[in-house]
Amino acid sequence: MNPIDYLRISLIDRCNFQCVYCMPEGADLDYALREHWLSQAEILQLLQTVFIPLGFRKFRLTGGEPLLRPDVVKLVAAIAQLPETQDLAMTTNAYKLADMAEDLYQAGLRRINISLDSLQPDTFQKIIGGRGRSRWHQVWAGIQAAHRVGFSPLKLNVVVIPGVNDSEVLDLAALTLDRAWHVRFIEFMPIGNDDLFTHKGWIDSESLRQQIRDRWGLAESAVRGNGPADVFQIPGAKGTVGFISQMSDCFCDRCNRMRLSADGWLRPCLLNETGQINLRQALRQGQPLADIRAQVAELLAAKPDINFKMRDSGTTGAYSRTMSQIGG
Ligand code: GTP
Ligand code: 5AD
Ligand code: SF4
Repeated sequence: MNPIDYLRISLIDRCNFQCVYCMPEGADLDYALREHWLSQAEILQLLQTVFIPLGFRKFRLTGGEPLLRPDVVKLVAAIAQLPETQDLAMTTNAYKLADMAEDLYQAGLRRINISLDSLQPDTFQKIIGGRGRSRWHQVWAGIQAAHRVGFSPLKLNVVVIPGVNDSEVLDLAALTLDRAWHVRFIEFMPIGNDDLFTHKGWIDSESLRQQIRDRWGLAESAVRGNGPADVFQIPGAKGTVGFISQMSDCFCDRCNRMRLSADGWLRPCLLNETGQINLRQALRQGQPLADIRAQVAELLAAKPDINFKMRDSGTTGAYSRTMSQIGG
């Protein structure tokens, strides 16, 4: 069994984009009250007295959009300085990254994953919602800044939606030819926007690999991440192409992660709500930290049974939070 040593920490449940695959159009989301956000001190206390003693060593900051959290740079610095932190990463939409990349790097962040679903400003705009074409350029500037500052690996996430951006797979894969970037194609999951999923469906990773193979050839790569991606390389390319195939090749059995929401719920599985514990309440009610740790240890032991089996069901269970609120 995989060790469960990777915690995804959502810093904020709000986002400045409304990606079509992530939230239903016009959704009126039930955001956490600001006073319910875990403070920096509470996050650190949980890491030092609960998660690190239980073996967690890899941390990823997510959102919503994590760069919207006002104290994000300070939080990065504090987590990076913990001696047990082996890996500190962030998943962002990069809209604010151009101005923040340098500070984040100085604070100790080294790894960053960025959503980039299209190279066409118009298509990008349709995917992320809202008006105007400038957002693609702003995101691209964020990616360039991350590259310049030295984030490595630099990963770009593409959720492939039939009829929306699937025609760009080769263009996106071509980014890896002369840049040491990791472009990862993600199978669209029925979480976030069920209507869109029902309407459009999803494309399996193997058919994308075949397109790339036909054009350039494709070899399995020696590089492996901590995560769910299968990694390949176009012969001679500087970067890699990855595939996150939770629909066609469910990886729930080797899941190594838990999620902490911005308002302090610990969630053992992305795709269902079984077993969640409210750590904010436990902390603020003054429960002894040893008791909280024991509860989390119990949840860790129960996780293999809680993990959603996409393979068995083909769809997700009922859930009350969108992907943006959970942090992807
Ligand atoms: P690294 O491999 O450590 O760089 O990170 P990652 O791929 O786990 O992180 P990222 O936030 O970039 O996640 C990319 C996508 O993988 C997410 O948006 C999800 O679509 C998918 N994913 C990540 N974790 C899970 C999970 O636990 N279950 C499922 N079904 N999908 C996941
Ligand atoms: N299916 C697959 N991936 C999704 N993401 C958001 N919604 C979905 C979905 N329905 C991913 C995006 C982003 C991350 C935070 O979550 O790729 O990179
Ligand atoms: Fe898009 Fe990520 Fe924001 Fe969801 S959380 S709307 S995927 S940028």
